[in-house]
Amino acid sequence: MSYSQYLILYFLSFILPLIIIFIFIIRKKTRYNLPPGKMGWPFIGETFGYLKPYSAITIGEFMENHIARYGTIYKSKLFGEPAIVSADAELNRFILQNDGKLFECSYPKSMSGILGEWSMLVVLGDIHRNMRNIAVNFMSYARLKSHFLQDMEKQTLFVLSSWKHNSTFSAQGEAKKFTFNLMAKQIMSLDPENHETEQLKKEYLCFMDGVVSAPLNLPGTPYNKALKSRNTILKFIERKMEERMKRSQEGKKELEENDLLNWVLKHSNLSNEQILDLILSLLFAGHETSSVAISLAIYFLPSCPRAIQQLREEHREIARSKKKAGEVELTWDDYKRMEFTRCVVNETLRLGNVVRFLHRKAIKDVRYKGYDIPCGWKVLPVISASHLDPSIFDQPQQFNPWRWQVQDKSKSENCTNINNNFMPFGGGPRLCAGMELAKLEMAIFIHHIILNYNWELVDVNDHPVVLPFVEFPKGLSIKVQSLANV
Ligand code: HEM
Repeated sequence: MSYSQYLILYFLSFILPLIIIFIFIIRKKTRYNLPPGKMGWPFIGETFGYLKPYSAITIGEFMENHIARYGTIYKSKLFGEPAIVSADAELNRFILQNDGKLFECSYPKSMSGILGEWSMLVVLGDIHRNMRNIAVNFMSYARLKSHFLQDMEKQTLFVLSSWKHNSTFSAQGEAKKFTFNLMAKQIMSLDPENHETEQLKKEYLCFMDGVVSAPLNLPGTPYNKALKSRNTILKFIERKMEERMKRSQEGKKELEENDLLNWVLKHSNLSNEQILDLILSLLFAGHETSSVAISLAIYFLPSCPRAIQQLREEHREIARSKKKAGEVELTWDDYKRMEFTRCVVNETLRLGNVVRFLHRKAIKDVRYKGYDIPCGWKVLPVISASHLDPSIFDQPQQFNPWRWQVQDKSKSENCTNINNNFMPFGGGPRLCAGMELAKLEMAIFIHHIILNYNWELVDVNDHPVVLPFVEFPKGLSIKVQSLANV
């Protein structure tokens, strides 16, 4: 055999197996029965269309067009990766319930860049379970009753104390003030309007601008400024940690603050870095979402005077019986009596859809309803889609709290269908840890504003928009009349 023949044989022995493996992979890939859809442009795929701002009480033009063309399960390329988008409530439940088995949480890298690699929203496995236990304990029913409820009422009254008769202001700003003050107090015992709380709030606003902006880490971009704010916030929390550890080591004073920071210092075995990211992620998760939900309630209610009237009757009745019993502060029993308020809360969450979709990844090949979801593909359950689906919710664009009243009392098939398809807080092992806290916050805030004020929307063109976080671009300006002056 000549030298060149040897060379060919030598190469073939390497290249042939590679070619066979390559063909095998390609054939395996094409054997997938993928859902219909198109992958769009190289790398960016259809990301820009998917993220194009739209009205929060709709599913947006992109989703509408794709569902009309491909159905409720379709493929696309989003956030730089091949993806399966699901507006199918059944598949969404399946995805969330199989978290950790078939799917796992997979937020874009830019998110962990800014929230931190140990953020509760991005960690997986044991560390997630560990952090989740801490969060669930922190917001347990017992603590909601013994700590949060009283403080929520105090923080609500603090915010409302600046609402003067006939004044106009941003309701979104006020809702953010309320939820931030509450979380800052419960997490680190910071008092509202204290210099350091205000400083932290300022940094936090800059941080949030970066969370919602394009992840471009270049000098002067919002993302870059937000990374700097993140460092400042972490240094602030670290300082607080050091102060407390020093105090406890010197034995001068037992750590008496009944807040999250003390709890993790005393009871968890998390590293300092993990504690910092956990605290930042709870501040983020607990402040942004519920302030949007409260703003949405303030936005929806004026369009439904009958709901305002029924709410007022419910809360006046509670206030009357408290007066009779000589009680001042709201109790857990009062909260349980807020039945119609719960319907308003549910309806606000259904129509406003604070969280639109979640980020997951398939960790195994999954077959569902005849379609394949290949291992490694991104999976986006769009939890808002079923909330706005006319086959599930009659006249879904209508703000109709009474649909939940029927719900409470009936166990019919239609009602089970509605309950199964209502998932504003996600589901499965990553169900929102602050779900009960958020509902309580909304109810307490509604109690005081409905008893004390009438309000009207000042700018009729300021609607909630998905950017992709839900926001009122002009701040939701309202004019209030104090009922004491009417
Ligand atoms: C109306 C208000 C709220 C809504 C709509 C909401 C919604 C959600 C959703 C959909 C998830 C699931 C994320 C996923 O599966 O990837 C989630 C997770 C979470 N939420 Fe909320 N949330 C709200 C309020 C709160 C509050 C007040 C807190 C308090 C700190 C909170 C803390 C958390 C935490 C810690 C997680 C992560 C749970 C885990 O990964 O185990 N949320 N939330």
